[in-house]
Parts: sequence; structure tokens; C-alpha cells
Amino acid sequence: MKGILLAGGSGTRLHPMTMAASKQLLPVYDKPMVYYPLSTLMLAGIQDIMLISTPEDLPQFRRLLGDGSRFGVRFAYAEQPSPDGIAQAFLIARDWIGGEACALALGDNLIHGDHLSALLREAAARPLGATVFAYQVRDPERYGVVSFGADGQATEIVEKPPQPKSNWAVTGLYFYDKQVSDIAPRIAPSARGELEITDLNRVYLEAGTLMVDKLSRGYAWLDAGTPDSLLQAATYVQTIQSRTGMLVGCPEEVAFRMGFIDADRLKEQASRLGKTELGRVLMDLAMGAHA
Ligand code: TTP
Repeated sequence: MKGILLAGGSGTRLHPMTMAASKQLLPVYDKPMVYYPLSTLMLAGIQDIMLISTPEDLPQFRRLLGDGSRFGVRFAYAEQPSPDGIAQAFLIARDWIGGEACALALGDNLIHGDHLSALLREAAARPLGATVFAYQVRDPERYGVVSFGADGQATEIVEKPPQPKSNWAVTGLYFYDKQVSDIAPRIAPSARGELEITDLNRVYLEAGTLMVDKLSRGYAWLDAGTPDSLLQAATYVQTIQSRTGMLVGCPEEVAFRMGFIDADRLKEQASRLGKTELGRVLMDLAMGAHA
């Protein structure tokens, strides 16, 4: 399975912070924002990753991430000339996807919780249909909202409904089977002129092949698209890391734990990070201080 990391958009809700910088490169505590969804894709076992961003910002992502060998993955890069919608990613990446199954992670979404890797690998392994994750929020009107029938099956998905029928928001992590490259070009732009990911998900829903996994309260899902949620995400990462000594959203660690890189490679990465706390934790991990 391949994976797209979508890191374009206009970031208007974070102006002026994003007037001259990419939102997904802003810090979330001790790492660039894009590290969190990158770690999520890697936890799903995905090693072929295409990063899509604006023509202005793409060079900075290349500088940060390189060819991916540091993380034991292979990066490809592509431009999205204007933010015409999340589902456009599948048109931009079509040749690169090459008819395979493909996941998509939004560059400003952080998902964290116990057994996440197992959950993600299960989604990645499903041969047919699509899998999305739903999470209960207080402000569902900001998101794609999914409603469920009495049998617990998803019945409807609506993008940013003024009167949401449920408080289950669809998170920014999607797994699609190999049909996605044929389905995405059939989506028409919405009233706001975007190729909506919700419309793509609805095609799968109507075909009876959309799996909606509810994330329980044991998981955290945060997006970092507003000043408040950016600060909350940073505070969350700081709290978990300083309390437990374990890292949140660190691709070097995930690469090591997933077997994408060995201990020597991890040591190199830890040294690159110098005297930072992150570098220290990674060095301990490489030296076998933590199981
Ligand atoms: P949004 O948060 O919906 O949009 P945005 O990032 O442009 O921000 P704002 O609403 O403040 O102007 O986008 C969700 C994610 O998807 C985010 O990581 C940006 C990304 N995105 C793209 O890369 N291209 C697009 O065309 C769109 C709509 C979003």
C-alpha cells in the first residue's frame, strides 16, 4: 500500500503565522507538524509516501525529509498548484499510485493511542473498500460528519453540516483500495469549488464498502489548524512525553520499532539531533535502554 501525506492548503485560520510559512512545518512542541501524520502512515506499515504541498512550500519539505532513507521509507514529492480540495491528491498522485491501494493522511492531523499500529495495519490490510476513522467531538460542524443506524452501520456522511446529526467527525486519515484511482476522477467539485474527500467516501458508503472505525476515548485525535488546536496539540505532546518519557509522533522511533531502520541508523539520527531531549531519547532507544 502507498500513502499520501497532504500538506498544502492555505492555512488561513493560522494567519499571520502561515503567511510566509507552511502550516505543516510549524512546530507542535518539539517536532514539525508533518512528523505526526508521517509517523501515523509509517505505523500502518507504509514505506512509499508521496508528499503533496504548494509549489512555494515543497522545497522546504524536501529539505526536511529528503529521500526518506533516514526513516527507512521512500519519499516522492508533488505540487498542488492551488488548494482545490483534499480528494485532488488522488488525481495529482495517480501515476505514482500506479493502480495500487493508497492511504491519505492530512498533514495537520495527530492521532495517538494504545494499539494504534494494530488498528492501522488492519485497515491497510483490508483488500476491498475504504476505511475511515470517526471520533467524537464537541464541534462536529467543522468536519465531515458520519451518522450511524441502529445496527451501528454508517448511514450518511455530510461535509461541515450546519446542523450535524451526530458528533462523530471523520478524522484526516483514510485508507482506500485500488479502485480509488478510478473513483476519484469521477468526483465533481462541490459548491465551494473543492474536490471533497467526503464525496469520495460517500461513493464507497453507497457501494456498501466503507468501513467506519469508531475511535474510542482511549485515543487522541487533534488537528492543528487553529491557534487553539495548535496549542492544544503541543501541550498534549509535551504532557505525554514528559510524563512517560515516551515519544509521540517521532518518525525515527517508528522507523526503528517497525524494523525500517536498524540500531546503527537510529544512532546516526539521534546524533543528528544533537543535544536535544529527542536526540537523547532516541540514543537511549538505539543503545537498548528501553525495551
Ligand atoms: P483545511 O484545514 O481544511 O484547510 P487549510 O489547511 O487550507 O486551512 P484553512 O481552513 O485555515 O485555510 O485542510 C486540511 C488539510 O488538508 C491541511 O493539512 C491542508 C490540506 N489541504 C491540502 O493540502 N490541499 C487542499 O486543497 C485542501 C483543501 C487541504
